[in-house]
Amino acid sequence: MEFEKKILCIGAGYVGGPTMAVIALMCPQYKVTVVDINPTRIAEWNSDHLPIFEPGLDEIVKKTRDRNLFFSTDIAKGIRENDIIFVSVNTPTKEFGIGAGQAADLQYWEKTARQILEFSESAKIVVEKSTLPVKTAEAMERILSSTNNGIKFDVVSNPEFLAEGTAIADLVDPDRVLIGSRETANGLQARDELVEIYANWVPGERIITTNVWSGELSKLVANAFLAQRVSSINAISALCEKTDADISEVAMAVGMDSRIGDKFLNASVGFGGSCFKKDILNLVYLCQHYGLHEVADYWESVVKINEYQQERFILNMLGTMFNTLSGKRIALFGFAFKANTGDTRESPAIFIAKRLLEEKAELVITDPKALKNAMSDLQDARGNVNYTADPYEAAAGCHAIAIVTEWDLYRNLDFEKIYRAMAKPAFIFDGRNILEHKRLFEMGFNVFPVGKPSLKHF
Ligand SMILES: NC(=O)c1ccc[n+]([C@@H]2O[C@H](COP(=O)([O-])OP(=O)(O)OC[C@H]3O[C@@H](n4cnc5c(N)ncnc54)[C@H](O)[C@@H]3O)[C@@H](O)[C@H]2O)c1
Repeated sequence: MEFEKKILCIGAGYVGGPTMAVIALMCPQYKVTVVDINPTRIAEWNSDHLPIFEPGLDEIVKKTRDRNLFFSTDIAKGIRENDIIFVSVNTPTKEFGIGAGQAADLQYWEKTARQILEFSESAKIVVEKSTLPVKTAEAMERILSSTNNGIKFDVVSNPEFLAEGTAIADLVDPDRVLIGSRETANGLQARDELVEIYANWVPGERIITTNVWSGELSKLVANAFLAQRVSSINAISALCEKTDADISEVAMAVGMDSRIGDKFLNASVGFGGSCFKKDILNLVYLCQHYGLHEVADYWESVVKINEYQQERFILNMLGTMFNTLSGKRIALFGFAFKANTGDTRESPAIFIAKRLLEEKAELVITDPKALKNAMSDLQDARGNVNYTADPYEAAAGCHAIAIVTEWDLYRNLDFEKIYRAMAKPAFIFDGRNILEHKRLFEMGFNVFPVGKPSLKHF
């Protein structure tokens, strides 16, 4: 069969895999190939055990794989044979040299640019799918035009707004698709090629086009605003705990103002994930670079409040449990950074686990999807850590349970049974405010939510 378009994606991660699977599903007339330097990842994408968990992803991959969706390690062939190249490699925070701890580490990105230059034999549209500092397209264009090989490259920004845990729903029915391009004839032509892809299933009014710099910057700003809401409500949760106000009631009252809205106002142990922190720090670094120090400080405070909230959770546990956790057995319910994913990158659970181990607590970690990642995250941590997929087994003999991830399954457990099997007094620290606190208290638990009065028997 002759395909209408041939699309390549470099980087088969949390973004590249699901995004391309959905394009392949929605556009059977296109051939979609996903390549990665990691052969294990590619082998997993070609197996029955996909490298990432996302609700609905398995079914889509089963339907499209080897029909019009292909996973391969042959990057050179991929670049040669495809006209539209999405780049979805990781762009973590730089850990060395100038900008360490803040700036984006663009080494994987630049390596990809050089590979595209080396292996291209015909014109390409290069699509920035990764989240990148504003002005990266300029650097990309410079690299791609560095050899004067006569090949035309157009760089387009098409940041991804999916959220892990709801990636498929977000991709199938996005709030918006953003395409930023140069405003030259070639740039606009490249933009239209991309619009055509998404128009297969996204209504026209939700496909928005901007200049390339707005495209790049909007992604950083969107993540900064989302994280800012989390830090705003978490900052207020600290005040609620001092004043006997209830953060859920405050959030409801505040969120019903249509100018504010009710989304993303759940107080918690803090945000995690591979993006929020790194993208804000990237924004902070950019502001500093342009001499906007006040703006940089403003956004950096969002990250500081998040760290404060995690530390506050530990201090609450320590203070409540009679100022010593040494030798106490504590079950962490959830290790993923949020529900419905196995991803633990920057999960508050990592910080909490390490801090509890420093206090010489014994840990039992349970999570339906993230135990493998948890083991790898804690492999160098010193102390006593056990892992089990069964929350009842995890809680047995424990002095305390800390809810770290808002998995639905934790809402519906038999807490009477759990209470009976725990050491007394039994404590629950609900870091996600998902449990029925009054009912747990009546069973005998001492209950410590975030931003609400605690319920204790002593
Ligand atoms: N994870 C999210 O929820 C999310 C959402 C929106 C945007 N983003 C952005 O998307 C980008 C990718 O994120 P991710 O979570 O998918 O990362 P990831 O680490 O899961 O995947 C990146 C993949 O790129 C591969 N890779 C790196 N260098 C390569 C090269 N030179 N050639 C081929 N493959 C290469 C890696 O092996 C890895 O499999 C980042 O910029 C991130 O900020 C992520």
